[in-house]
Amino acid sequence: MNEKLLLDNLRCIPDWPIKGVNFRDVTTLFKSAECVKEICDDMYELYKDKGITKIVGIESRGFVMSSALAIRLGAGIVLCRKPGKLPCETVQESYAKEYGMDTIEIHKDAINENDVILLHDDLLATGGTMKAACQLVKKFHPKKIYCNFIIELESEFPNARKEFGDDIEVSSLL
Ligand code: PRP
Ligand code: HPA
Repeated sequence: MNEKLLLDNLRCIPDWPIKGVNFRDVTTLFKSAECVKEICDDMYELYKDKGITKIVGIESRGFVMSSALAIRLGAGIVLCRKPGKLPCETVQESYAKEYGMDTIEIHKDAINENDVILLHDDLLATGGTMKAACQLVKKFHPKKIYCNFIIELESEFPNARKEFGDDIEVSSLL
């Protein structure tokens, strides 16, 4: 894995969207063909033998690499969205964020008990979003749940991944 390539291309924006947040801007990774390939290849190596049937992408930056990886893995894609965006009946979960409250939802018929799920987001900070996503996906009783991020802010939020539950395997590239 070419960690240097990814770190060299990641842009950090101090005090955005509010003072005190050092925002890791993954759009500078996504605009680089080399970085997109690197991320996709690295994630493929992690999950190629896990029997993943669906990738649940978290709105909005989680959608990007979920799509690329789903094609490589031969998996389907499920959208985990902010409220009011999905047109059919949904299952919801609310949570506290690094800056404010939010709710996420998934279509009620999107996941079944035979699925092996990979949840993907661009970044793990407090863990609030992914914890809610894990709780949401658990309601569908899939066979197994994996969690993956491009970036994990482990030094800033050392306990974030511990919140997801012992039954969920978590990995991040950076
Ligand atoms: C960001 C990021 C993760 C989440 C991480 O999304 O893309 O989804 O916050 O923070 P947490 O670990 O503290 O929950 P945001 O809510 O800004 O939504 P967006 O991708 O739609 O801009
Ligand atoms: N980047 C992207 N999303 C985020 C961040 C960040 O640094 N912190 C919390 N959510």
